[in-house]
Amino acid sequence: MSKIILTGDRPTGKLHLGHYVGSLRRRVELQNSGEYEKIFIMIADAQALTDNVDNPEKIRENIIEVALDYLSCGIDPEKSNILIQSELSELTELTFYYMNMVTVSRLERNPTVKSEIQMRNFEASIPVGFFCYPISQTADITAFNATTVPVGEDQLPMLEQAREIVRKFNATYGETLVEPQALVPDNKICSRLPGTDGKAKMSKSLGNCIYLSDPADVVKKKVMGMFTDPNHLRVEDPGSLEGNTVFIYLDAFAKPEHFEKFDTEHRSLDELKEHYQRGGLGDVKVKKFLINVLEDELAPIRARRAELQNDIPYVVDVLKKGTDVARQEAAKTLASVKNAMRINYFDDEALIKSWQDKFKE
Ligand code: TRP
Repeated sequence: MSKIILTGDRPTGKLHLGHYVGSLRRRVELQNSGEYEKIFIMIADAQALTDNVDNPEKIRENIIEVALDYLSCGIDPEKSNILIQSELSELTELTFYYMNMVTVSRLERNPTVKSEIQMRNFEASIPVGFFCYPISQTADITAFNATTVPVGEDQLPMLEQAREIVRKFNATYGETLVEPQALVPDNKICSRLPGTDGKAKMSKSLGNCIYLSDPADVVKKKVMGMFTDPNHLRVEDPGSLEGNTVFIYLDAFAKPEHFEKFDTEHRSLDELKEHYQRGGLGDVKVKKFLINVLEDELAPIRARRAELQNDIPYVVDVLKKGTDVARQEAAKTLASVKNAMRINYFDDEALIKSWQDKFKE
């Protein structure tokens, strides 16, 4: 079976380092591995509207930001189709049919939905569309026969839901849909990069993000203000790595060559860590190293973004073309779903014949 990738993001803000290490960087690697026959990357605007119904303007604005983030990170439109979810009515149709294969109590048990309901204070009144978004996400995935869904760890319950729907569908109507596999970062740190304040998650609402599009001086300022070891007051003091955000970021970003380039005093991250724990290594020094490490990765992304920002018609064209390719795929899946469910009346000559026969004698 050919390997197909589908993944996506809600366009509720610019993408940040959490997205980058959690998924974006990996997507580019997978794209360039040549192992995948087709790749679809979805800007999930319809899903974003499930909890932003009163603010469509925010979603509109961020579609282009997310597209720019993708392209500047190395998503290559020759290899990957970037698409806009709401442009594919096929996805909405699939969602509607899948809704009958999921119970309310099953959705209520979905840990991601549960925690998102809490975060949004939706406990008393959950919008139906929001509640059902795992079903819509199953439509996103199955519409492209995706075998592989590269996502952050928080999306695992969504994939489990998708697999259940696929199994139920196939058991009921015959083998039609492909059961997808999640592909989560193999590195724990990358699964959930903390915010600059040390809080568990980098998130726009917490104001603790470093964005891919942040200018160099902003990145520098954010790193300088980062949470470290609150007990590491003097350079001579031994420092702790436990919950030390700067070291967590180094775990996610530092490569061996960064030591040759930016810190000849230490040969590896292990050596740097040992020195910090021993005492005699100040936070500022480590932060300056981290700034260099981040800039090594971010500077080319920023430069590419600047180019793309000057050619928005090109970016729009990429979105249009990707969406067109995606629509064709989704239409094929919708046709086979309707065929399997036997709700393709006008294509079914035998049915029409049987309607005729029914009233013959
Ligand atoms: N729910 C995902 C998120 O919040 C975005 C998304 C929408 C998605 N559709 C998808 C991810 C399909 C993977 C597959 O980030």
